[in-house]
Amino acid sequence: MSRPITKAIVPAAGWGTRLLPATKSQPKEMLPVGRKPAVQYVVEELQAAGVHQILIITGRRKRAIEDHFDADPDLVRVLREAGNEALIEALSYIEAGTQFFYTRQSTPQGLGHAISLGASFVDGEDCIVALGDSLLWGPDPAAPLRAMMQAHKELQAAAVIAVEAVPEEETHQYGIVVPEVEDPPPGRPVRLTDIVEKPRRGTAPSNLAVAARYTFSPLIFNALARVVPDQRGEIQLTDAIRLLIQMGEPVYLWRLRPGERRYDIGNFFSYFRTFLDFALTDERYGYLARQYLKAKSYEL
Ligand code: G1P
Repeated sequence: MSRPITKAIVPAAGWGTRLLPATKSQPKEMLPVGRKPAVQYVVEELQAAGVHQILIITGRRKRAIEDHFDADPDLVRVLREAGNEALIEALSYIEAGTQFFYTRQSTPQGLGHAISLGASFVDGEDCIVALGDSLLWGPDPAAPLRAMMQAHKELQAAAVIAVEAVPEEETHQYGIVVPEVEDPPPGRPVRLTDIVEKPRRGTAPSNLAVAARYTFSPLIFNALARVVPDQRGEIQLTDAIRLLIQMGEPVYLWRLRPGERRYDIGNFFSYFRTFLDFALTDERYGYLARQYLKAKSYEL
């Protein structure tokens, strides 16, 4: 039996060009979603799933991510002197016994290339990949990862990939999987027979889109090393997964359950949707935000 997964790679190297000018001098992963930067949700999800060694793949103009996860004793001292325990609590994500590692992807060579930079960090173990600009939402946001890790171990999988159904007209924006059975049930691993990155409109082989969370065996790094760059010169993670499937390796999907969904901040509309849903359901300010929206909607 393989060891439990303790390591995660969080790619956060994308340039965020679709969010300019907001991302001119700050990483898109640091854009606030409600009261926290987006990438903090990803880290907290990993922590809640028991994963405490996290490698974040950054790049130029991404230094704010490192600062965000760095302890700040001076700030804590000032807050303590002011008796502001609530704000000290808000910084507790830093002290959860998590080790952070960073490496840079200096050239835009794609998601697969970014992940391949984590090979020596992972060092022959199983690992998680959680995209730094994508959040999971649900009663327990870490539940999918926990279940995927369990399935990965039980099935000795090469990969388990979170997926969710998307409308037909959006399939060209995602990695799309082909499961061994049609319409696979949520919350259960189902073997894949193929996967394709961003199929052209009208050519998607299903409506099940890759949802930003993966577990991998170390075989993924061999596959990434063999992938041929796409037309834009980028190494796609999806192509490496496809290679694993073609090699006969056991690759499974894990379909998100009702009430669970993926959000991203990759473009302004998806960022607005994410911010609104998280703000409107915020424990502390959600009620006020909903009241405000109700009053305001008379004007819309
Ligand atoms: C990436 C992956 C894609 C996946 C998507 C959401 O695309 O390449 O397969 O469906 O994340 O998880 P991106 O949004 O970075 O273009």
